[in-house]
Amino acid sequence: MKSLRIVELLRLPATGDQVVVKGWVRTKRGNKNVAFIALNDGSCVANIQVVVDLSKFDEELLRKVTTGACLRVDGPLVESVGSGQGLEVQAEKIEVYGTADPETYPLQKKGHSLEFLREKAYLRPRTNTFGAILRIRHAMAFAIHKYFNDRGFFYLHTPLITASDCEGAGAMFQVTTLDLNNLPKDEQGKVDYSQDFFGRQTALTVSGQLEGELGAMSLGRIYTFGPTFRAENSNTPRHLAEFWMIEPEMAFYELEDNMELAEDFLKNLIRYALDNCQEDLEFMNKMWDDGLIERLHFVLEHDFKRLDYTEGIEILKASGRKFEFPCDWGCDLQSEHERYLVEEHFKRPVILINYPKEIKAFYMKQNEDGKTVRAMDVLFPKIGEIIGGSEREADYGKLMARIEELGMSTDELWWYIDTRRWGTAPHSGFGLGFERLLLFVTGMGNIRDVIPFPRTPKNADF
Ligand code: 4AD
Ligand code: MG
Repeated sequence: MKSLRIVELLRLPATGDQVVVKGWVRTKRGNKNVAFIALNDGSCVANIQVVVDLSKFDEELLRKVTTGACLRVDGPLVESVGSGQGLEVQAEKIEVYGTADPETYPLQKKGHSLEFLREKAYLRPRTNTFGAILRIRHAMAFAIHKYFNDRGFFYLHTPLITASDCEGAGAMFQVTTLDLNNLPKDEQGKVDYSQDFFGRQTALTVSGQLEGELGAMSLGRIYTFGPTFRAENSNTPRHLAEFWMIEPEMAFYELEDNMELAEDFLKNLIRYALDNCQEDLEFMNKMWDDGLIERLHFVLEHDFKRLDYTEGIEILKASGRKFEFPCDWGCDLQSEHERYLVEEHFKRPVILINYPKEIKAFYMKQNEDGKTVRAMDVLFPKIGEIIGGSEREADYGKLMARIEELGMSTDELWWYIDTRRWGTAPHSGFGLGFERLLLFVTGMGNIRDVIPFPRTPKNADF
């Protein structure tokens, strides 16, 4: 007989038909005559109740049915007599696939702290909370591909190993096959990278944007969706050393079009979650953040406030608020500033534009004022920056002038600069941090809890 996943079983009528169900024991309780096993297979947050008439089973077998064990159960699917349960399986046959010794199984008890579960990241998907988060994560990844596919964007795979530092922040993880205990040196005593695997110094990418721009200048509209790596030593609840980023890049889009796309994209993803992840969202709302679902609706129902950086600074200075990092024109906003604008001043998401060029990357389109660039950051409640993007500098002369001003080398960037020599065009794009989106959609407070295996400073165990 075909075994059904619990999500499918729970939709069936209670006809008493024979079913097969397979999953992991969440709890076992009962009395001397009967046991109730809550079985979960990860297909949904709900468990199915298995009722076991103890007189029909061998004691030896039942002793193996403990929290964490994996079972196959055969029996009729019937209406549950207990209140609050819709359906249950009356066990006729139980096979124990794998035991889980109660003395050593780490998730024996319920209600572990998130800190404890982070130490057990290899097992935490077995909990209700992480099951819900990972299902929502999947749904969001699917919705992202669907969103772009429906709108004629092509998925472009950009390289993970690169020789160029897109964001110019220098926070890259080097990739090398050189023997670190015996490095080849040139005449000046510097490491001789010509002997390295790629014949030059390489690193893991911080962004797929530069290659994404080449895609936009040939296919029109592309997006990337892949892992990115940043070796910043930032131990915050919003930073990972390895995170996933979605980067659309569009020919013929100016900053206005870019903002419109970013707002529509985020709203579409949130709507998809509300429509398709209802049970998991309700679970997260109940367990972790009772304002979650309301906040998701709130974002859908409000236009994002569009605002110049300069005005934003004026609002912050006039706020009378004592910030940990005081802020003046030219400063890079901290999340305390971003959240003040969003949560307290405008009470809605904000798109902040036209930042000082000194605090933004070299590729952003320069404004006439000579001081600002056509950058845009989308700021969200509870998160701060969720998207960073810009219109790109399409003019060869201006781009080169900026590269020189910053003292950057053109050795690694010549291919990028060439796009401005042959058939340049206005174009724009942005990057959405996938885990920041998931923080918002799941209501979790720490980015380590929305990715299966977080990579943070001093943590790459499993
Ligand atoms: O603002 P960022 O650095 O922009 C770029 O990388 C551009 N190349 C994007 C583009 O225009 N195509 O990063 C974009 C987003 C941020 O807004 C944030 O959501 C996320 O990526 N992000 C991080 N998420 C988790 N951990 C980190 N260390 C992150 N750094 C950035
Ligand atoms: Mg940014």
